[in-house]
Order: sequence, then C-alpha cells, then structure tokens
Amino acid sequence: MSYYKVTGNIPLKGEVSVSGSKNAALPILCATVLAGEPCRIENLPDIEDVNSLIEILTAMGAVVTKPQKGVAVIDPRPIKEYRVSTEMATKLRASYYMLGSLLGRYGYAEIAEPGGCSIGQRPIDYHLRGMRALGANVIDRGGIITAEAKELRGADIYLDMASVGATINIMLAACRAKGKTTINNAAREPHVVDVANFLIAMGASIRGAGTDVIRIVGREELHGCTHPVIPDQIEAGTYMIAAAATKGNVIIKNLIPTHLEAISAKLMECGVEVIEGDTGKEFFIQVKADERPRAVNIRTLPYPGFPTDLQQPMTALLAVAYGNSFVQENLFEDRFNHVRELNRMGAKITVNGRTAAVAGVERLFGAEIQATDLRAGAAMIVAALMAQGTSIIRNIHFIDRGYENLTDKLTALGAMIERVE
Ligand code: EPZ
Repeated sequence: MSYYKVTGNIPLKGEVSVSGSKNAALPILCATVLAGEPCRIENLPDIEDVNSLIEILTAMGAVVTKPQKGVAVIDPRPIKEYRVSTEMATKLRASYYMLGSLLGRYGYAEIAEPGGCSIGQRPIDYHLRGMRALGANVIDRGGIITAEAKELRGADIYLDMASVGATINIMLAACRAKGKTTINNAAREPHVVDVANFLIAMGASIRGAGTDVIRIVGREELHGCTHPVIPDQIEAGTYMIAAAATKGNVIIKNLIPTHLEAISAKLMECGVEVIEGDTGKEFFIQVKADERPRAVNIRTLPYPGFPTDLQQPMTALLAVAYGNSFVQENLFEDRFNHVRELNRMGAKITVNGRTAAVAGVERLFGAEIQATDLRAGAAMIVAALMAQGTSIIRNIHFIDRGYENLTDKLTALGAMIERVE
C-alpha cells in the first residue's frame, strides 16, 4: 500500500498552478453522452475519479482518445450499453450523473447507487424525484436504479436543499426533455455553472446557472463542442491553507479568485495576508503568513458560503491557532473523521454533533496518520506539512481521487514529501 512520508515545519515558497476542477470535469464527462458528435474536453485533471469515469464511458461503448495531456476527446456515438455496472458505479460518487445523461439521451438508464466519500448518508432522493418529475418511471430495487421514459417532459422542480448533484443531474436530463424545466433552489457552485456552459456550447438552452433558479428548454439534438474545464476551487483553497499553515509565501496560479472569496476572507480574518492579482494573462492569489493564525469560527454552507470540501483542511490550520475556534459542518453529518487523526498529532479538538471545538495548540507533531476520505486526506497533508517531525500518511488512494500531481507540486514549493509505493 502506498503512503506519503512528509517531514514538516518547512515554509512553502514559490508558485503552484491549479489543475482542472474535479467536480466540474466529472459531470462534463457524463454530459458528453448527450451529444450527437464527439466533444473535446480540455484542462481535464489527471486524477483517479476522472480515470474511473473514462472507464465507465469506455465500458458503455464510447470511444475516448487522449490526444495530449489534460485533453480527452469523447465520441459518444458508439454507445450501446445504457447500464453502469455496480462495480464501476460504486467507485465514485459522480457515476450518478450517468442517470441524467443516459435517460436524457436514450430514455433508459440502469445504475447502482453511487459510491464516494463516506461523510454522511448522502441520499439521492432529490435526483430520483427530479427524474420522476420529468416523466421517468424510476425504480430502486436493492440499490439498483432503473429509470425509463418514452419521452421526458419539462417540469417545475423545487429542491429541498440546494444540492449540487441533483441540480446537475436534473439539468442533464432536462436538456433533452420536451419543453421547459425550472429548477428552483438550485445549487450555485462554480462547477454547476461550468457544466451549464458546457451544455450551452453543445447547443442547450439554459439560463440562470449560478443563481438559484435555472431554466432549461429541451432540445432534440445537441452537437459536439470544445470546452476547457474551470480551475479547481478546492485544490486552490487547499494550497492557500497549506501556505498559511506552513507560514509560507505562495503564489497560486490558474484560479478564479471570486470562487475563493469565502476562503480568502477567512484566511484574512486569521491574520494571513491574501493578495489577489492579475498578470494580464491569468489571475493569481498570493498567500503569505509569518505567524500562527488567529482563531476563527467556520460554518460550512452552499456556495458562496464556506465550502464543506475545505472544512477539513481548514480545521487542520485552526488546530494551531491562537485561541479557540468553532467549526460547524452543515452539509454532511459525518465529516469530522480527520479530527481523530489531528488529535493523534497533538491537536485538541472535540466534536459534538455537527460542531468541532478547536482549542489551538502551539504546534502539531509528526505521527502515523491516515486519510479517511478525500478531503480528510487534504487535512492530513496540511497537518503533516506544518508539524514538527516526520509523518506517515496512509490510505492515500483517497487523495489520488482528487489531487493531481500532489507530490510534484508540493516538492516544487520546497516541501519534503515522498510517495512510497
Ligand atoms: C457534491 O456532492 C460534491 N461531489 C462534494 O464533493 C461536495 O462536498 C458537495 O457537492 C457539496 O458541495 C461531487 O461533485 C462529485 P449535495 P453531492 O447533493 O452532490 C443532501 C469532494 O470532496 N442531499 O450538494 O453529493 C446531502 O445529504 C466531494 O470533492 C439529500 O438529502 O452533494 C447533503 O446534506 C465530497 N438528497 C446536501 O444535500 C439528495 O438527493 C448537499 O449535498 C441530494 C443531496
């Protein structure tokens, strides 16, 4: 089993470039099924979840070529299989986007309930209700979902929570439904907007992505297109937190600063210097710190609130803050598995329900720790980079699902990190 060996307490210094967004790339790959022609996806991150989805597309019959690094051309025309095997569907969460895509394109989808990080119950009832509202007959038999419709019809849909997955899945199916669909209380995350832009480039009619009401008018045909995936907001935020945690000075390039406003604001509240800039060619954010952070309180919320996906690395930073912080997790009921590992490194954090009380300590110490899910893995990386001594991080397959070239990027910033196979 591979692991990371990290010797900490070294300030990160230099420049790092952010890869394409995982949570945009995955639904975009699924959305290619809707096209009647090949689509070229650029700025695709080389991560395990993307590779798993490409495997799913290939198994369905799509022809996927990779003409160069970070680019995939997907020809969906040869697809003959409208079913995703349980083994493949359970490898990742985003396999559920095949439901909306296959249903929209072929009127039939069969897929097992998705896998993904174990951070709470994560039901998919809004997705299924959305497909039913569009006229599909949806049956869930022992975790295998089949959805079928002779014709999808546009509908007025309200989401009880602004779910990213349900918003995108409904948008995918609605693009090929007859008539107009409205998604009320839609998620506003940057990746929802990127998927909408991809669909629009394929000829779909979508308005309002990025607001809480999205209107879609279904089309009979969608064509091929070329689309670059937006930069990964969460990867960018992880490097910002790592820079602050190691009292470093890092320029993070290829990002969209407005996507990171919640994290920039919280880091500044911690006393960290955050400078947004534009070289004329690209945006960047510089993060500088020379002291321990001040304690701050965090509440995770849907975008534009503080993202749940950065709660875990941010908790690692707050572990060494001056004073007491409270971290409230409002999205997922079980997203504090990283706390036990941080405490093994000397942190003083207690969890009560959805709140973690963090009593800041002067420093963390290297230890043998494990990633329990993807962003818990990011928290372990941040903690190990700032800790005194050497840490071993196990279960790094979770980290491989979402961070491209982590070792090289951190090594270029001066970190002592080694991946041991
Ligand atoms: C997406 O998960 C992301 N995953 C998650 O990223 C991210 O944490 C999350 O959105 C929130 O931003 C992908 O994009 C593949 P939700 P998703 O539907 O779509 C409840 C990472 O680390 N809900 O927005 O599953 C749900 O339980 C991962 O990159 C229902 O009750 O999240 C949660 O409390 C982890 N029923 C809330 O809504 C439903 O049918 C928001 O979940 C759907 C959701």
